[in-house]
Amino acid sequence: MSDLVIAIDGPAGSGKSTVARTVAELLGWSFLDTGAMYRAVTCEAIFRGIEVHDAVAVAGVADDVSLTTLPRVTVNGRDVEDEIRGDEINVAVSVVAANPEVRASMVARQREFAAAQPLGTVVEGRDITTVVFPHASIKVFLTASLEERARRRGDEGEDSVARRDEADSTRAVSPLRQADDALVLDTTGRDVEDVAQEIVQWLKHNLSR
Ligand code: CDP
Repeated sequence: MSDLVIAIDGPAGSGKSTVARTVAELLGWSFLDTGAMYRAVTCEAIFRGIEVHDAVAVAGVADDVSLTTLPRVTVNGRDVEDEIRGDEINVAVSVVAANPEVRASMVARQREFAAAQPLGTVVEGRDITTVVFPHASIKVFLTASLEERARRRGDEGEDSVARRDEADSTRAVSPLRQADDALVLDTTGRDVEDVAQEIVQWLKHNLSR
């Protein structure tokens, strides 16, 4: 088992998932999309008719669900890969993600996942560099202009993306913020492969020090 971790954070549409997946492929490492986990819990709460502001009930869902993110996002065996990207979840997920008990449960699962991987793990989200893996092999913070991020999110639209960024950056528990020792990369107008290669070079540089 390996304790090598590349931690990637950034706002919505900054390219985290695509870049992280490409870095994982280049290295032959595992990949974990933690946003999909918060989205899946949100989806299951709504499926059970729970109001997302009911913190105790939503925390109960987070504790007892079985989750997978690859090859498909499933919750208790139900495939929610497409459903988790819909408008209803875009609106509700920031509320669920601000719930401290939900976060505690997801963070424990994320650490467990990484600890079980044979080579290393590329993990992306909002609090990965600051809370989940503060001692990661390398930390990366991806940014891009709001215009480009909204374009990448397609149907979600600029207002929803901006609203989610605001909620994620200002919440009390584990807000999105740039770690002091993170490599900051602006992906506006940049190729995924190019950004991924830069991260791999940064990893090699850091591991050889
Ligand atoms: O793909 P995009 O960046 O738009 O969103 P995502 O990574 O799927 O994350 C969806 C939501 O989950 C975010 O807006 C956050 O509210 C929450 N999240 C979080 O709080 N912490 C994480 N580590 C990952 C996601």
